[in-house]
Amino acid sequence: MTIVIKGNFIDTPSPEKFRVREEGYLVIEKGKVRGYRDTPPRDTGEGQFFDYGDKLIIPSFCDMHLHGPQFLQRGLGMDRELIGWLNDYTFPREARYGDPAYARDAYEVFADSLYQAGSLRSCVFGTVHRKGTVILAEEMEKRGLAACVGKVNMDSNAPDYIRETGEESLRETVKFLDDMAGFSRIMPIITPRFVPSCSGELLGKLGDLAKERDLPVQSHLCETVQEVAWVKELFPEGESYSHVYDKAGLLREGKTLMAHGIYMSEDDLDRIKRTGTALVHCPDSNLNLASGIMDTSGLMDGGINLALGSDVGGGHELPMNRVIISAVQSSKTRRHFLGRGRELSHEEAFYLATRGGLSIWDNTGCFDEGCLFDALVIDDRMPHREELTLTDRLYRYLYTSSGGDQITARFLEGRRI
Ligand code: GUN
Ligand code: FE
Repeated sequence: MTIVIKGNFIDTPSPEKFRVREEGYLVIEKGKVRGYRDTPPRDTGEGQFFDYGDKLIIPSFCDMHLHGPQFLQRGLGMDRELIGWLNDYTFPREARYGDPAYARDAYEVFADSLYQAGSLRSCVFGTVHRKGTVILAEEMEKRGLAACVGKVNMDSNAPDYIRETGEESLRETVKFLDDMAGFSRIMPIITPRFVPSCSGELLGKLGDLAKERDLPVQSHLCETVQEVAWVKELFPEGESYSHVYDKAGLLREGKTLMAHGIYMSEDDLDRIKRTGTALVHCPDSNLNLASGIMDTSGLMDGGINLALGSDVGGGHELPMNRVIISAVQSSKTRRHFLGRGRELSHEEAFYLATRGGLSIWDNTGCFDEGCLFDALVIDDRMPHREELTLTDRLYRYLYTSSGGDQITARFLEGRRI
């Protein structure tokens, strides 16, 4: 079926600039953009017409790193750094997801919020619990979202109440993959928490499993100085943090996402680039846990594939318009007060938040012909309206919207959800 959408379209086919098309018509067929017209297209047959008048239409957001179970703990333990925050705040709370009734209640709220915020595609960590993580996938599927959802693996350096044996971890992951077979837009993803949480043996087995089933992989990498030193202690023979993942077969050609990537050695950079791994920038989390500030512009200029993530609950904001601003602000701090790198432009940050690192979904996040039509319709009307350009209206929305309050329609693959 053909649909035609009228409105003001703004997107970033490339990170250099916004493409702004005023009061135009986008033709969608079979969920994909078929073309753009300045005037109403004739003869769309049985098609549907959506007239969004003067509203803004932008690609929907891709939140490429966040933790479903941490949604309820946003804002807690923000006076800690990573390891203390994990041990004292996060692990005890994640343990509660062993109870399916608790998981259902919590994940209903989480999935509603993700839908509301317009993050129609995401890569989400669950917990070690298989059943709870399937519930997370169910709640996201019910709301029509597209996502990769992972059961977390942890057989090391975690309290008893949340640690698995290596055998159990692998067995439950295989079962999880079976449980996920009937889903339409939610895919499983292999999810070792981070190197310190997994034995070398478990990492290797997860790498084999990812290869065997051709699955994407997500984890954390080089987030804090203390963590990098810990990995060196745990795996002294490794040439770098990334080498430990690489050796296990977990840096899969264009299919792996690694959150953070702040403290990267030459060897790390080389491996990440060579394997087409996407690094997911999580600016709020990096500041909240005092982890550091990622060299986003340097990495982008160096040809590394970047994406953006809220990293809820290390990050406190789920809406990606807030995360875009945080990414720009972080880069300004790094540039102007630390004298390092260059500012990340708003266009670049918007590109990162909509294109999703181009690894998992490579044909979404802009309105080029052939792209899946994933979009948000924004009603940014204000009383006593000042005449603003469309770009200024986009800036105002990105900076001031507290989330989904101005989103009046959501499209995923050409269907309103
Ligand atoms: N490293 C290992 N686990 C986590 C987590 O839950 N959040 C963040 N930010 N970093 C991690
Ligand atoms: Fe994280």
